[in-house]
Amino acid sequence: MRMNVAIITGGAKGIGLACVRRFVEDGFHVVLADIDGEAGKKAVGEFRDRVRFVQCDVAERLDLRNLLTATLNAFGRVDVLINNAGIARRAAAVDLGLEDFDDVLAVNVRAPFVLSQMVARQMQAQIEAEAASVSDETRDYAIINMSSINAVMAIPNNLAYSVSKGALNQLTTALAIELAPLGVRVNAIGPGSVGTDLLQAVIAKDKVMRGKLLARTPLGRIADTSEIAAVAAFLASPDARYVTGQCLYVDGGRLALNTWME
Ligand SMILES: NC(=O)c1ccc[n+]([C@@H]2O[C@H](COP(=O)([O-])OP(=O)(O)OC[C@H]3O[C@@H](n4cnc5c(N)ncnc54)[C@H](O)[C@@H]3O)[C@@H](O)[C@H]2O)c1
Repeated sequence: MRMNVAIITGGAKGIGLACVRRFVEDGFHVVLADIDGEAGKKAVGEFRDRVRFVQCDVAERLDLRNLLTATLNAFGRVDVLINNAGIARRAAAVDLGLEDFDDVLAVNVRAPFVLSQMVARQMQAQIEAEAASVSDETRDYAIINMSSINAVMAIPNNLAYSVSKGALNQLTTALAIELAPLGVRVNAIGPGSVGTDLLQAVIAKDKVMRGKLLARTPLGRIADTSEIAAVAAFLASPDARYVTGQCLYVDGGRLALNTWME
């Protein structure tokens, strides 16, 4: 059976780490890319030889080139890319510095563009090499961008983040239609509030904030990171073979809700 290989950026913590776990469970070999060397090394300890860690700042083009080279050296191919690494710089819109704005766009939008471009070229080479033996319907090449409900909503003092996720959705759309003829599907996931360590710690201490968040969440709870990873696994799987150019919102109903839950 063919080896399936996924690259997951920002895979050392939070949603990215949950995706690494889920893809390993689903039989993938995974390259976990993260800027945080300590967390990356700690994370791979759990997986033995099925996961490689590559330290990488996704905002640096050379790092992305090295990431792809390291992936090919380790596993020889790439089938799935999850552009998950993301940052925010909080400030009032009128005070937000240009450097902060550029940093957010570099990690959240330019990096997914550059890495998708590199990986798409690699996928194209694999597809051409496999053309004689594999039919279109059995190809499972997928790019998944970790967007946010903030692609279409906004929270105060987080302008660059919302702008970046809106742009990431359009990157998804534009790339999806160009890569469709190749058989590479491109989709996004838009999580609502997800119980990463940081958010769990904040809402455990701050009951008022917890109450406000849940009043805006019809399903009445914060998502577990594994519930986002499950949707990434679906989008990468043959079950999603006819799905491309979509952002799937995994938000407990928040986008559907006007006002608040009683
Ligand atoms: N947690 C949520 O509630 C939530 C909601 C909506 C969307 N998201 C999105 O999901 C993704 C993951 O979020 P999370 O909450 O798990 O974040 P997190 O901060 O827990 O993890 C992000 C990971 O990305 C890495 N990273 C940051 N900058 C990087 C860079 N320049 N190069 C390489 N790696 C880098 C960090 O070291 C970290 O391991 C992000 O794109 C975020 O915008 C999160």
